[in-house]
Amino acid sequence: MRRAVCPGSFDPVTNGHIDIVQRASALFDEVVVAVGVNKSKNRLFTPEERIEMLREACAGFDNVTVDGFTGLLTDFCAQNGIHAILKGLRAVSDFDYEPPMAQMNASLTDVETVFVPTSPEYSFLASSLVKEVAMFGGDVSALVPDFVHRALTKRLAERAAEQG
Ligand code: PNS
Repeated sequence: MRRAVCPGSFDPVTNGHIDIVQRASALFDEVVVAVGVNKSKNRLFTPEERIEMLREACAGFDNVTVDGFTGLLTDFCAQNGIHAILKGLRAVSDFDYEPPMAQMNASLTDVETVFVPTSPEYSFLASSLVKEVAMFGGDVSALVPDFVHRALTKRLAERAAEQG
């Protein structure tokens, strides 16, 4: 059984993430989408909300499950019998940022990182950009699933109301 993990913060899940998960599901027998829930003050959505949105987004993929993890990704892999981490590569910045993480993870345990190039239509897409554009009223409806767009609009309105 070949099992892979697609890790990330997913704050929130975008169409680019879903494209990577779909491609992972075609390459591996089982895929676990793992939401890193290490404490961070900068998240828009709670870990539970991010996991719930991913479950809805991945509901159509039979061999994909969604889970959360704290601590090291390699510990999550060891606990779940996972030997492959699958990640998408977008721009040059990812090529700087990702290999050291892959090498560190490989040095900690027997886990291999598999990189897939992001589909061209999603190469600019990042959760952080989606949030920023949405916060300033830009249209991100084509970049995330509809239910995520609704949740994002609602949460940003709540945040704006809180801040007066
Ligand atoms: O979507 P992101 O923010 O790029 O996801 C980053 C994530 C969660 C995959 C990464 O930060 C991670 O693996 N965190 C778990 C802690 C860990 O294992 N750190 C060592 C990495 S070499």
